[in-house]
Amino acid sequence: MKEKILQLIKDFEQRKATVSTKEEVEALRLDFIGKKGLITLLMQDFRNVPAEEKREIGMLINEAKQNVESSVAELKEKIEEEELNKKLESEPRIDCTLPVKTGTGALSPRTILQKQIVDMFVSMGFTIEDGNEIETEYNNFDAVNVPASHPARDMQDTFWLDNGEVLKTQTSAAQNRILRTHGPKCRVLFPGRCFRNESLDATHENTFFQIEGVVVDENVSVANLIYFMKEMLKGVFKKDVNVRLRPGFFPFTEPSFELDATCPLCAGKGCGACSHTGWMELCPCGMIHPNVLREAGIDPDKYNGFAFGLGFDRLVMIKTGLDDIRHLNGGNVKLLKQYGTKI
Ligand code: DAH
Repeated sequence: MKEKILQLIKDFEQRKATVSTKEEVEALRLDFIGKKGLITLLMQDFRNVPAEEKREIGMLINEAKQNVESSVAELKEKIEEEELNKKLESEPRIDCTLPVKTGTGALSPRTILQKQIVDMFVSMGFTIEDGNEIETEYNNFDAVNVPASHPARDMQDTFWLDNGEVLKTQTSAAQNRILRTHGPKCRVLFPGRCFRNESLDATHENTFFQIEGVVVDENVSVANLIYFMKEMLKGVFKKDVNVRLRPGFFPFTEPSFELDATCPLCAGKGCGACSHTGWMELCPCGMIHPNVLREAGIDPDKYNGFAFGLGFDRLVMIKTGLDDIRHLNGGNVKLLKQYGTKI
């Protein structure tokens, strides 16, 4: 019996040296310690071993079995590692230590101009707020004096969510929350991303940015509104800009205006960019409708104010000369970098 075991151990070591695939390892395992393996069969013979040899033989068999088990596990691991290495060798390698050749990113022209505008308004005493991108129907419409039956709802092709909420179609959606939290004496600017179900072309995007502002106090006038708009435009175009107000219509303001600025490109002489009128339509605005103030818990007999909703992407395009709004949402770093330098 002892010789048999020692011979088996030798045989095993010989076979072990020839094994190079997972299948061969498995065959080796089965041959020695499988159900009908050589060592398994020896163990079944163990009962015939004379009592005085049992201890020694038992230990030998156990050692042999353990040796096979651990050798098989080692072999498997080694082969798996070799296979993985082969696979890695055959795949293109990424050297994380190489210097990056793609260059760094750039701030979007939007980001640059928005920061400038925000800084200007902060210096004029405004607080900056963020709006939500998903809004309730109430905030987006009802709270700013656009009830369900109002035709103005159809002017904005809204993305409705299954739960009845909307992707906000206008930054005005934040007015009610802001007026409620800031109370009747406030100056707040709230830039934000808006969404409308528009067909896309060079001047229309379904995802665009507005910068909205409200000022509420006692005795606020249209002259105050004009002052703030002129200050902002002076800051953006780095020169005095003349403005004019035309009548407009928005449910949340009364009276409502369209604010035009002298074309910053031709200084009012008339050019292709301003359709030879000398004016550019820039910012809808007006005196906040009493219903909007009332809905936000502010007494319209005591307080009044103005609001404006700057079409921010258009301003970025005028400022940079970018002729297609879709670029602003594109990821072309080279192009955005180039236009960012024009602000
Ligand atoms: N919310 C309007 C829109 O998206 C823009 C607007 C007009 C905002 C007049 C205002 C405002 O605050 O007073 O079409």
